[in-house]
Amino acid sequence: MDKAKLILDGQEYELPVTRGPEGEVGIDIGKLRKESRAITLDYGYANTGSCESSITFIDGENGILRYRGYPIEQVAEHADFVEVCYLLVNGELPNADELAAFKHELTYHSMIHEDMKKFFEGYLPTAHPMAILSSMIASLSTYYPHANERVALNIIRLLAKAPTLAAFSFKKAIGQPFIYPRNDLSYTGNFLNMMFAVPAEPYQLSPTLERALNLLLILHADHEQNCSTSTVRMVGSSDANLFASISAGVCALWGPLHGGANQRVMDMLKMIHDDGGDVDKYVEKAKNREFRLMGFGHRVYKNFDPRATILKKAADEVLEELGINDPLLEIAKRLEEVALRDEFFVSRNLYPNVDFYSGLIYSAMGIPTKMFTVMFALGRMPGWLAHWKENRGNPKTRINRPRQIYTGEGARDFKEIADR
Ligand code: SDX
Repeated sequence: MDKAKLILDGQEYELPVTRGPEGEVGIDIGKLRKESRAITLDYGYANTGSCESSITFIDGENGILRYRGYPIEQVAEHADFVEVCYLLVNGELPNADELAAFKHELTYHSMIHEDMKKFFEGYLPTAHPMAILSSMIASLSTYYPHANERVALNIIRLLAKAPTLAAFSFKKAIGQPFIYPRNDLSYTGNFLNMMFAVPAEPYQLSPTLERALNLLLILHADHEQNCSTSTVRMVGSSDANLFASISAGVCALWGPLHGGANQRVMDMLKMIHDDGGDVDKYVEKAKNREFRLMGFGHRVYKNFDPRATILKKAADEVLEELGINDPLLEIAKRLEEVALRDEFFVSRNLYPNVDFYSGLIYSAMGIPTKMFTVMFALGRMPGWLAHWKENRGNPKTRINRPRQIYTGEGARDFKEIADR
């Protein structure tokens, strides 16, 4: 057995070493505290593996991302998002019969219980759709109380109903009637129809928009132990129900340092545009730490985010196909160009990430900025579900309960209020 040696307070400890098939090395500290009384300390878990997983592989130094072994570039070019959902959750690409059956399931579970419409009446039109999505997903557990006994069915329900909940939250915000899912449309077509159709006239589905949405959902589908997926695993580790675990993932994704960045990128590009488009000025501001270049940097990718590379090309193509000349795209490209020439960004390995270009495509599709992180959540749904299922199925899984180094007061006697 491979071992690592630790010398602490003159005492030597041997720790087992785990090596993954892609050359990753993990020092197993499962018995460290029991043998040495010591724990490890790792703010942000940048050096800490929480699990072993066979779903997604990332090589951050070389910009490699694979879903169940398939390179993201190939999946993005050839796959349908529903195939990717099946692949991530089940481990293999579906054959024709399996795909047809899976699509049928997703189609026939896309409605939400009619009573759930009443929930929307309580929200203000200004309610952030991520608040609606997380609470509606948690509320699904009240309609399907035995979630963890029927995992396969409830995975289908979440994949099928999340787009409906998202589209309904958009209709609520703009004061239009809800458009119900239709059984004759594809997964992406159904979502676009629920978002943009109005009762007064039929909605003309655009193949360009369907292709763009399919690509965006695929590129967001999974990303191993990111903050929101780790949250889903954390909550699932307490044996909380599937809906509660996914709802927690939605909340974690909402943060501007994570999925919420795509919304902040657009706000940033608009701010630069409205301020005369002076990119150099804002690069200097970022270097002076007056603000963060949203959509830049990544904990894992240290050369480039392969998704950003694909999205940059897609942004050009989609906007051209739609005949949209968005000045924000040029600003984004110039921002990338200036930053990647600058020592401050290069020395810190700060490159565009998945959130940098995605918003430009969502915007070209007519999706409002407030919905961008919801779109990220729709893409990440299969990844969250696959990791929850894998975590639950691993006999090594225990409830997640990290330790700490206490830095507070020593023991002291309670003071009555009269003595304070
Ligand atoms: C996603 O984990 C995943 O896989 C996430 C994700 C997924 O698919 O699930 O890829 C999706 O969340 C992408 C990231 C979206 N977030 C943003 O775009 C927000 C802006 N980026 C950063 O806040 C930051 O880069 C993070 C959060 C992405 C990474 O944070 P780290 O790894 O903790 O890095 P850090 O904050 O410690 O920064 C390291 C250095 C610091 O400089 P020093 O203090 O060492 O001098 O880089 C600087 C930071 O100040 N820095 C930035 C910066 N990001 C980091 N400076 C300017 N602009 C930035 N965007």
